[in-house]
Amino acid sequence: MFPVSRFCRQSVVLRRWARRYAHTESNAGPKTASFGFKTVKEEEKEDLVKNVFDSVATSYDLMNDATSFGVHRLWKDEFVSSLNPGKKGPMKCIDVAGGTGDIALRILDHAREKFADRETTVEVVDINGQMLGEGYKRFKKTMYHNTPQVSFHEANAQALPEAHFQDNTYDLYTIAFGIRNCTSIPSVLEEAYRVLKPGGTFACLEFSKVNNPLMSMLYDQYSFSVIPLLGTILAGDRDSYQYLVESIRKFPPQPEFAKMIRDAGFTTGKDEDGGAWVDLWGGIACIHKGVKV
Ligand SMILES: C[S@@+](CC[C@H](N)C(=O)[O-])C[C@H]1O[C@@H](n2cnc3c(N)ncnc32)[C@H](O)[C@@H]1O
Repeated sequence: MFPVSRFCRQSVVLRRWARRYAHTESNAGPKTASFGFKTVKEEEKEDLVKNVFDSVATSYDLMNDATSFGVHRLWKDEFVSSLNPGKKGPMKCIDVAGGTGDIALRILDHAREKFADRETTVEVVDINGQMLGEGYKRFKKTMYHNTPQVSFHEANAQALPEAHFQDNTYDLYTIAFGIRNCTSIPSVLEEAYRVLKPGGTFACLEFSKVNNPLMSMLYDQYSFSVIPLLGTILAGDRDSYQYLVESIRKFPPQPEFAKMIRDAGFTTGKDEDGGAWVDLWGGIACIHKGVKV
């Protein structure tokens, strides 16, 4: 087992119930969530998502390279470069839904290589211990292993345990290809706002909406036929990759997600590409940013 902080589920559960209760009062009816193209009970989604990432954890990095021909690396590089960690001095960062640590490693490398900064820290947070375990193994081979620069925490993005993840703590909150898997996006954004310092940055890298119709059609063809097939061949798991593709299509388009970020209290740029968000590869992926005021 790797050293990962586990938090008492009790406070998480209590807060979840409080949210659910508040929601139920104003909005009667059964609570549902999308799990890919399926509609499931809200309380079921978390376990279903967990099963997906339990199943893909060991093949996750290989599959990312195979399904995107390595392009996810370029997007992640661009995401981290755009944040320029270390420029204003060492930062306290939290990488949520951090999985195998791709973003955390890039943040630390960028700060060190560009600014000789060995004091920036990243806390990698994920709901799935197996994904974190893969990240831990990977960091063991780096100079950051056994330093205060990186740590791993098993926790839910929607209810970060307040005893550890205190209010107004972080300079930078990142979440890459993670938020669409969460049951309640507003709860994730609310937590991001809570833990960031005033002036801190929320930054999200996520698959998004392709606006060019021809490109969108080609991308759909590729995603729905090739990715689940690669899942079957390389990872022996078609269903998980089918879910991952479907979940991309269920994620809100750029302007809608930008509004959700503002609704959580952040300021964003103008509602356009190059403002509140920056499209990568025509919107296949997209970077959204917001600043806590
Ligand atoms: C597609 S992976 C992305 C991993 C990594 N950020 C990357 O870019 O390679 C999505 C991650 O989100 C995590 N996740 C899903 N729901 C979560 C939640 N509610 N709280 C925290 N992590 C969650 C999964 O366990 C998984 O590791």
